[in-house]
Amino acid sequence: MLALDAMVDLDLFICPRCGSRVRRERGAAGERWLCRGAGCALADQPFPVVSGVPALVDFEASVLDADRLRAVEGASEVRRSRSAGMLRRLLHPANTTAPANVARMQELLKSEVTDRRPRILVIGGGTVGDGLEGLYADPAVDLISFDVYASPVTQFVGDGHSIPLADGSVDGVIVQAVLEHVLEPTVVAGEIERVLRTGGLVYADTPFLQQVHEGPYDFTRFTDSGHRFLFRRFERIDSGPVAGAGTALRWSVDHFVRALTRSVPVGRVVSLAFFWLSWLDRFLDPKHSVDAASSVFFLGRKTGEPISGADIIDYYQGGM
Ligand SMILES: C[S@@+](CC[C@H](N)C(=O)[O-])C[C@H]1O[C@@H](n2cnc3c(N)ncnc32)[C@H](O)[C@@H]1O
Ligand SMILES: [Zn+2]
Repeated sequence: MLALDAMVDLDLFICPRCGSRVRRERGAAGERWLCRGAGCALADQPFPVVSGVPALVDFEASVLDADRLRAVEGASEVRRSRSAGMLRRLLHPANTTAPANVARMQELLKSEVTDRRPRILVIGGGTVGDGLEGLYADPAVDLISFDVYASPVTQFVGDGHSIPLADGSVDGVIVQAVLEHVLEPTVVAGEIERVLRTGGLVYADTPFLQQVHEGPYDFTRFTDSGHRFLFRRFERIDSGPVAGAGTALRWSVDHFVRALTRSVPVGRVVSLAFFWLSWLDRFLDPKHSVDAASSVFFLGRKTGEPISGADIIDYYQGGM
């Protein structure tokens, strides 16, 4: 991952309110991160530093609260547990589309950016997403990652609605299992477009038929077509279901039993008996599966030229 110091040297950080460069100052009292934009309401009020990293957030326009973030030193508001390896792998078969798509992004960028290491931004990267292990292990890319909380695998705290990075400053963006958790996905998609250079690549995977997770922080779902249209100013390289109708059905069983028995553990245990439904995804017809997919992906290239309403109707990949 790119070091925070290297990001400062590259002059990447901007104010999430006014877009002016953010400066890091080191003094006797420690380090301060400041917007110096003339007339910016955030100018001269240092951004919070939590767990040693800056929280470059416009708190008036975010679900994040500055005082709460400081009080918990940037810890996640959502309890995050990762069930033990074997059981987790049985319950959640590995994401079969992300490794190939992300590897394709890495290879395309390495062949196109020849004068330096390609810079790839992970949004909502507090945990390493499913299938991204190869990306994190690749020494030939500079990885930048942020989330709304501080984590050992992020360099700063930020909000995807106002990414504190300069226009056109990255070559690739990965946003995995995140767009359902943001209040305004179109705003976040606009920010992805802004921070990418023209010709840069995006990989997004986002739930369609999935139950609410992360409690109060879950807002939206996307059909495959809706997801593609979210990235309307991108040329499509590939898109389709990530987890298909089998996974959607197994999770429906889990949540149906939860609602019937009023018990989360009972739902989880009963759905264990249906683990094979997820494994059947790989035998389903993608055309029918995409209409009932648990989640969908989009890999595309920024062109800046939007596709039209007629184009999105022609795009439909389902089995109707
Ligand atoms: C389901 S988790 C996925 C995490 C990771 N991408 C993965 O696949 O393991 C959703 C993530 O989105 C982050 N998130 C939610 N709202 C966000 C926002 N406005 N900006 C950036 N990240 C956000 C959450 O904190 C959380 O880490
Ligand atoms: Zn500012």
